[in-house]
Amino acid sequence: MSPSLATVSYIGATILFILSLGGLSNPETSRRGNLYGIIGMTIAVLATVFGPRVTMAGIPWIVGAMVVGGAIGLYAARTVQMTQMPELVALMHSLVGLAACLVGFASYIDTSIVFTGAEKAIHEVEIYIGILIGAVTFSGSIIAFGKLSGKIGGKPLLLPARHWLNLLGLLVVIWFGREFLNAHTVVDGMTPLIVMTAIALLFGIHMVMAIGGADMPVVVSMLNSYSGWAAAATGFMLSNDLLIVVGALVGSSGAILSYIMCRAMNRNFISVIAGGFGTGGGAPAAKAGEQPAGEVVAVSAVETAELLRESKDVIIVPGYGMAVAQAQHTVFEITRFLREKGVNVRFGIHPVAGRMPGHMNVLLAEAKVPYDIVLEMDEINADFPNTDVAMVIGANDIVNPAAEDDPASPIAGMPVLQVWKAKTSVVMKRSMASGYAGVDNPLFYKDNNRMLFGDAKKMLDEVLAALKA
Ligand code: TAP
Repeated sequence: MSPSLATVSYIGATILFILSLGGLSNPETSRRGNLYGIIGMTIAVLATVFGPRVTMAGIPWIVGAMVVGGAIGLYAARTVQMTQMPELVALMHSLVGLAACLVGFASYIDTSIVFTGAEKAIHEVEIYIGILIGAVTFSGSIIAFGKLSGKIGGKPLLLPARHWLNLLGLLVVIWFGREFLNAHTVVDGMTPLIVMTAIALLFGIHMVMAIGGADMPVVVSMLNSYSGWAAAATGFMLSNDLLIVVGALVGSSGAILSYIMCRAMNRNFISVIAGGFGTGGGAPAAKAGEQPAGEVVAVSAVETAELLRESKDVIIVPGYGMAVAQAQHTVFEITRFLREKGVNVRFGIHPVAGRMPGHMNVLLAEAKVPYDIVLEMDEINADFPNTDVAMVIGANDIVNPAAEDDPASPIAGMPVLQVWKAKTSVVMKRSMASGYAGVDNPLFYKDNNRMLFGDAKKMLDEVLAALKA
């Protein structure tokens, strides 16, 4: 393939990636967005493999690597459960970081292109920064994977003087950077490069270990952003414009997503990075603030069906438990049944419901729930006082009134769906256990709240049967 055809293909792929991101911002256009992304990536891979920088001798290696990588990707995509997605994403980010490190070392060792003067300095800065970002992304993502999959405890690890340790690490990295740039031979430069890589790896581990379970969603999107910058750095090292553009797109969209999630959890981005917030997740209720008191009122599936049948307005609030129970299809059946009977059923989606951004939207779309009745928290929160029944399916933290009422609560200030303002709220979960943030929920004890205990899928099947009876 001629260099100009490769350039044109890269421009085409870039446009498709931008259209893909645009499409993915809305559930209705997300399939199209996905398709644009697939076509863009296919063009990018073909233009690279058959482009001017790959020799014929390299093609078997590339094809072999693609077959192995593709097979692993296919296997992972088929076997990984939806609720394990964040872990898989964290693992994938680690690979981007690792690739940036390996490309960095390879381009430093590679003597086929000789740089001199300012070009040499620029190339070496690219290598140094590329490996730095790559190593932080790699080790940080591995720890994030460990935490999200429960292999490492969610409790933040807070070393004494940890901020000073990080600062010391940064100063050492800067000092070795100078050494690296002043080195005259590859052998001389290798020592500072390896020392910096080791420090960056330790920093990545330290940074994510210090972050508590409750902040992990932000960390995953932050590492997503880092992986984009690592890819952009790789693009600079390889002088590949497409990789620079795509890396910048991923890096900036990840940063925007982190910001949105911080806002949704009322967390300050800097304090997330500084770490220390949140417990291991699913832990017994935190002892902070006033503890909720009183009795909970349990109801049966038949009583819940009765409540729904007598309602005019129903808002369903799905959470992580709906995903675990795979109850979305029954939720849809119930929604359809009630809508046919003239009940106005809508869904209220919290930005961090479940375990990944858009988790609930994906499940509801899979179950074919119409998009126009699925509303964001800000769009629906004012409607709860005019709602007969707010049905909470496997959600906990995102409907916790303590976030608004109790300044001492660990989730104080996090915007929540105000289900308690409905005439009656029904919470469907298996027990009184806390949610991801590990805090007790005063909603359960409110006079107008009812608890429907049991697995969400099983309970909803019973509710549907009772509705139809
Ligand atoms: P959670 O607060 O984690 O509550 C989920 C509830 O579902 C649990 O209390 C659990 O109670 C119940 N549950 C589990 N399995 C169930 C089943 N089979 N049937 C019925 N109920 C079941 O979830 P949420 O309200 O969706 O809030 C999300 C939380 O996760 C937030 O704290 C958020 O910050 C965090 N987080 C979010 C993300 C993103 S990006 N969305 C990523 C990571 C973490 P029982 O055990 O009693 O059944």
